[in-house]
Amino acid sequence: MLKFDIITIFPNIFDSYLKESLIARAQKKCLIKINVHNLRKWTRDRHKTVDDRPFGGGLGMVLKIEPLFKSIKALKKKNAKVILFTPRGKKFDQKMAYKFARAKHLIFICGRYEGVDERVVQHLVDEEVSIGDYDLMGGELPAMVVIETVARLIPGVLGKPQLLKERITKDKGFIEYEQYTRPEVFKKWRVPDVLLSGDHKKIEEWRQKHGKDIGN
Ligand code: ADE
Repeated sequence: MLKFDIITIFPNIFDSYLKESLIARAQKKCLIKINVHNLRKWTRDRHKTVDDRPFGGGLGMVLKIEPLFKSIKALKKKNAKVILFTPRGKKFDQKMAYKFARAKHLIFICGRYEGVDERVVQHLVDEEVSIGDYDLMGGELPAMVVIETVARLIPGVLGKPQLLKERITKDKGFIEYEQYTRPEVFKKWRVPDVLLSGDHKKIEEWRQKHGKDIGN
């Protein structure tokens, strides 16, 4: 079972996502386990302060090291990997998803504000991950994107495990190809003839040509 621990200052963001759909079913089937933690749990002051002004000046606030240090210390066991979501990180892709799907325990830190104290990155984080070259307001959406991409690779999470294998081909990696279903003609828009031909070799060739290789 792959365990995800998510550290965030907005735990409620995850509520509906984790209670709905295949992610909920995967948890019920004990294929994955997702725990969401409020970073404020690891603060000591009355105001449960998680952020402060940056040394050297500048706009915005920075997540403090102490609550993050304590949270990681509390959650990290052997075999755990600590991931920080930041636009500065390595770009997430299908290949990274396969790597994460083989892990036992992933701890996700959802950054907020202008970032986290750099000492967290230097001493506590194994990998910085970005989901794309754009600035979000925090790492919560990236955490959901990564969980969904990784979870569907785990055998039993999707209804039909062979679905995954079908799209992985030796020479072209992971193919996302165009799909059609009934009716064969809608208004004047026709399904490509080759898909109706029953010629599996031709269909496979057509899919290779019309698909997009998203890596493997
Ligand atoms: N936090 C803010 N923007 C982000 C991004 N693009 N990827 C990961 N974490 C982020």
